[in-house]
Amino acid sequence: MGPSEEELRARLERVGQAHLLRFWAELEPAQRDSLRQTLVQLDARELGEHCKLAAEACAREQGGSGQGRLDGNLEPIPAQFLGGVSRSDAATLERWEEEGLRQISQDKVAMLLLAGGQGTRLGVPYPKGMYDVGLPSHKTLYQIQAERIRKVEQLAGRRFGTQCAIPWYIMTSEFTLGPTEKFFQEHNYFNLKKSNVVMFEQRMLPAVTFDGKAILEEKGKLAMAPDGNGGLYRALVDNKILEDMDRRGIRYIHVYCVDNILVKMADPVFIGFCVSKGADCGAKVVEKAYPTEPVGVVCRVDGICQVVEYSEITLETAQMRNPDGRLTYSSGNICNHFFTLGFLQEIAEKFEPQLKHHVAIKKVPFVDEKGNLVKPLKPNGIKLEKFVFDVFQFSKNFVAFEVPREDEFSPLKNADTANKDTPTTTRQALLFQHYRWAVKAGATFVEANGQRIPEKYSLSEDEESPVVCEISPLVSYFGEGLDAYLKAKILQSPFLLDEDVEKFIAQHE
Ligand code: UD1
Repeated sequence: MGPSEEELRARLERVGQAHLLRFWAELEPAQRDSLRQTLVQLDARELGEHCKLAAEACAREQGGSGQGRLDGNLEPIPAQFLGGVSRSDAATLERWEEEGLRQISQDKVAMLLLAGGQGTRLGVPYPKGMYDVGLPSHKTLYQIQAERIRKVEQLAGRRFGTQCAIPWYIMTSEFTLGPTEKFFQEHNYFNLKKSNVVMFEQRMLPAVTFDGKAILEEKGKLAMAPDGNGGLYRALVDNKILEDMDRRGIRYIHVYCVDNILVKMADPVFIGFCVSKGADCGAKVVEKAYPTEPVGVVCRVDGICQVVEYSEITLETAQMRNPDGRLTYSSGNICNHFFTLGFLQEIAEKFEPQLKHHVAIKKVPFVDEKGNLVKPLKPNGIKLEKFVFDVFQFSKNFVAFEVPREDEFSPLKNADTANKDTPTTTRQALLFQHYRWAVKAGATFVEANGQRIPEKYSLSEDEESPVVCEISPLVSYFGEGLDAYLKAKILQSPFLLDEDVEKFIAQHE
């Protein structure tokens, strides 16, 4: 049953939120129950504090310009804590890879996907992981990721003679849990063991007006949004995920965001690097493309590692270069992180309440005093979010690892009407990578008339891959092992090497 209307009203009045019951008399019993349940869950006192916090944080942010705030206290990640593919020789990279595969083979590594975002910029009404960017195979992001997990399990198992598994934890939100579960069921969990795919839900927080009032999006429903990808740490506790990891013997967790089509799942090189350095927390980064590129930069502020937004430093600082020509602050964050279980336990137990609240100002549809639905033309609401990387400051041994963008980072953020990070650019990035792998393995591509297509190893931003070439992750995780199929083969675009390699061999004998 829960509290009566009077009791609810009294509690809300005490915290300045009684307007949430404005339409109570008009609500059906089911709507009343649902609103009552939301309000009880939120707890009036906590709701009041949240609204106050949101309005204050927003006023603070709008009052002072962030630019230049951090310049004087900034320094790049010191060289001994920064590794990278182009900064190391082949033997060292192999050593790290071996170490990563060893940890995987001993069942000590888990993947954790952040998939609670609403993907508003892409503009599809379903979770981003279900998106098909138009590859010849029409695989979705989820399927590509699942197959990479299966392949790297196989590589580790073969190398060390074990049967191993990488559990896949998927953080969803109220918006994405239902459709994601259904999608995985319909696709038989992409042939992963169902018990190794663990979905859990992050919390939602009310959107708040500039004067600190929670917003009604319907007469009986508050406007709510997920609490940011840093909501991870509360969600881990709420859903007892760390206990589940511990029970399985997991020691290292590779966290990533859903939209990077090139993501190396459970990347053995990155994991091996972090483990070899004794790190408790790590971030994979790419070299920033240009000084004003709008990505967060991993660096140190007053000696403490963190991600600094471009808006928090001046253009002058962003443009600083080292004698070798590289940008001084060049470590672009790609939302790809390494944590030990011990570190996550510490965050959950001790530090989570200290994480900063970030303010996002959005257009939030609402019902006005007369009960009419209004779609605002100007931003009217504050959403508070925590960020996954804000825990770096609590690390005792933080490392960063730089990887080549063309091999590891191409995110799907926008619809094709934009010119960056779209279905087209992500598709092209993957096709071009697979083309490079095929050429390296010794394949030659020809036109329909048999004329050879000249080889290419780099593209400018708006250029298309010279051929359409897709290789199933079940055949190759990161370009390895392709010589066996492709050496000295003459191939025609569009080319798809799918998991039925026997058929391919028979056709090309
Ligand atoms: C993120 C990074 C940014 C990086 C960029 C690279 C954060 C806070 N920002 O920015 O530094 O340069 O990726 O692509 O990490 N998500 C949730 N719950 C939420 C909100 C988001 O799970 O409440 C998930 C999304 O589903 C997505 C990931 O977090 O998988 C990143 O979220 P998104 O909003 O796309 O972050 P960006 O602004 O692109």
